[in-house]
Amino acid sequence: MRQSLVIANWKLNGDLGLIQKMAEQFANNDVQTAVKVVICPPAVYLKAAEISLAPAQVKVGAQNCAAQSEGAFTGEISARMLRDSGAEYVLIGHSERRALFAEQDAELAKKVVQAQREALIPVFCIGETLEQREAGEVKSVLRGQLEAGLADADFSQLVIAYEPVWAIGTGKTASPEQAQEVHAMVREWVAEVAPSEAADIQILYGGSVKAENAETLFSQPDIDGGLIGGASLDPVQFDAICKAA
Ligand code: G3H
Repeated sequence: MRQSLVIANWKLNGDLGLIQKMAEQFANNDVQTAVKVVICPPAVYLKAAEISLAPAQVKVGAQNCAAQSEGAFTGEISARMLRDSGAEYVLIGHSERRALFAEQDAELAKKVVQAQREALIPVFCIGETLEQREAGEVKSVLRGQLEAGLADADFSQLVIAYEPVWAIGTGKTASPEQAQEVHAMVREWVAEVAPSEAADIQILYGGSVKAENAETLFSQPDIDGGLIGGASLDPVQFDAICKAA
């Protein structure tokens, strides 16, 4: 039986005030007994978030990590540093990192290894563009991303997030059936490469998830929760999404 998992990706948003509001929203809230809730603020806020959210049983994660463990890499933050700052999870390969920061498969594979070496759970993100979907390339694109990025991964300490690029921040959500079809395909792929982990691995959906559509998405058999962007900046709505999981 897989535990539901809902992760907030604040992207380049949020501040100490939002951390405080989130902590207040989740205090005395028993949703976390059924659902694991993780908040990924900008890295500079990780420690503050860990301290504020710990009493509410909410975990924290990072949005990115370096592909190297140390050295002359100005501006980078290593997996160990993130762990020291309280992170338990780290997003790797988010479509914004791939598209806006030119992160390539080989680099992402190194990030996954770095994260797992430091006992961070990678949340490995995959997704196709609208053009690729319309060209009938969803399966080949996603399998390519999975094979390359997870080449050296330990599947027992891993989360996969499916985020169709065309659904991120656009208000367009994949239908529950479209999302389920992809999630089942991802689980089948895991069954091929790591058969003992396929039933247990958590596969999250991301892309314009809101309180109104969360329940139908999360009720699909292979959707184990969500990776939430815009709606995670509103504590009341994020709480409602977590309760739907
Ligand atoms: O990481 C989160 C995703 O990019 C989804 O963002 O919920 O604003 O569409 P969104």
